Amino acid sequence: MVIHLASDHAGFALKERLARFLVGKDIAIHDEGTYTTESCDYPFFAHSLCSAVEKEQGMGILICGTGIGVSMAANRHKGIRAALCTTELQARLARRHNNANVLCLGARIIGEELALAIVEAFLEAQFEGGRHQRRIDMINLPQ
Ligand code: RB5
Repeated sequence: MVIHLASDHAGFALKERLARFLVGKDIAIHDEGTYTTESCDYPFFAHSLCSAVEKEQGMGILICGTGIGVSMAANRHKGIRAALCTTELQARLARRHNNANVLCLGARIIGEELALAIVEAFLEAQFEGGRHQRRIDMINLPQ
């Protein structure tokens, strides 16, 4: 599976670090930008990554300064379950219990090494299904 990556300017350096980390592990990535440190708007990158993840039923990682803005934008997408994580345990449980398909990180909140550990925990964990699926089915409001 391809892992989609996107960030704003505040998350750019961490995105580049994560890209090298994932490629080093033979994990295919699709870098959706931003591609410079020039100031930009995080919702644009969050929405384009989430559209790709929804279309491919894939996985993505979004980064901004706090992780909050990208997670808010991502969770507006019906097919996205985005989890803002600051610990490995949150990342593991976001996969196991919430079947999160987008991991959100705050580059100004956590350090690089912790971010790498969180990404690893997120990608290794598997959704447990069962009662957790029933609860996930209750998240989206009826249209
Ligand atoms: C950019 O300065 C910052 O506001 C953004 O990266 C993010 O933290 C928003 O939630």
